[in-house]
Amino acid sequence: MSTDPTPLPAAIHSPMANLDEWEEDLLKRYPDPETIATDKSTDAFRNYAAPPRDTVKEFYRLNHTYQSYDFVMQKEKEFLGFAKKEMPIWKAFDFLNELVDDSDPDTDLDQMQHLLQTSEAIRRDGHPDWMVLVGLVHDMGKVLCLFGEPQWSVVGDTFPVGCAYSDKIVFPEFFTANLDYQHPIYSTRYGVYEPNCGLDKVHLSWGHDEYVYHMMKNYLPQEGLYMLRYHSFYAQHREHAYDHLMSEHDHAMFKWVKLFNPYDLYSKNPNQKSWQELRPYYEDLVAKYLPATLKF
Ligand SMILES: [Fe+2]
Ligand SMILES: [Fe+2]
Repeated sequence: MSTDPTPLPAAIHSPMANLDEWEEDLLKRYPDPETIATDKSTDAFRNYAAPPRDTVKEFYRLNHTYQSYDFVMQKEKEFLGFAKKEMPIWKAFDFLNELVDDSDPDTDLDQMQHLLQTSEAIRRDGHPDWMVLVGLVHDMGKVLCLFGEPQWSVVGDTFPVGCAYSDKIVFPEFFTANLDYQHPIYSTRYGVYEPNCGLDKVHLSWGHDEYVYHMMKNYLPQEGLYMLRYHSFYAQHREHAYDHLMSEHDHAMFKWVKLFNPYDLYSKNPNQKSWQELRPYYEDLVAKYLPATLKF
């Protein structure tokens, strides 16, 4: 049985200036189809073929090296007991905003802004109110960084562990350094799972999706929970690399994951209303679905 490599200090394991670099790179890999359709000379289109910055590449190297089956088991045990902190959601947003990178004066897009832009775009399109709430909380799991987790254990595309890594995952070559790469069971197509066993039985690489799913699982409809749990699972919702583990039910529910994804990626809005203006609506929405305090 494998053992985890010696942990390094978080700073060494966190090569990106901030978590947004991963999302900016996602936009290069999956540019907004509307932008491409209207103007093929836009930055978004040009960037598609551009190599990612070295920091992002280094981030994936670490992510793919260390996200092993045993690592995921250990993190689930460590965080899914939710015994670290308890606070009202409004305090949690303040907490999340501590992630803003002070060294970049150009960015006023703190974490809260991204959440509001996502939720407001969903609201504008007339989707159910629980989906607006999904937009508001979907990245809440990034508070893992504030508990000292390195970037590669918080963000990044997610993928199943305990079975073969797909070559459709970004930078698949970095998996050769993973402890499980040559494991007699974990390196096989189905690994520890059964064909089409359903994703609920499958452990995905550890990060903010799985964490926020468990945080919210008693409060939101199942469609919303799929959006939370699999929003970074690009290898499936964009590349269909793991159909062999999906159940019929997963396939039906992934329509909701796909519906959510453009709001996460393409909802940047320079004319976003202020939090002060929006707060009354969101206070009512949160009170409708969530308890007075959340456990972390
Ligand atoms: Fe996210
Ligand atoms: Fe997001």
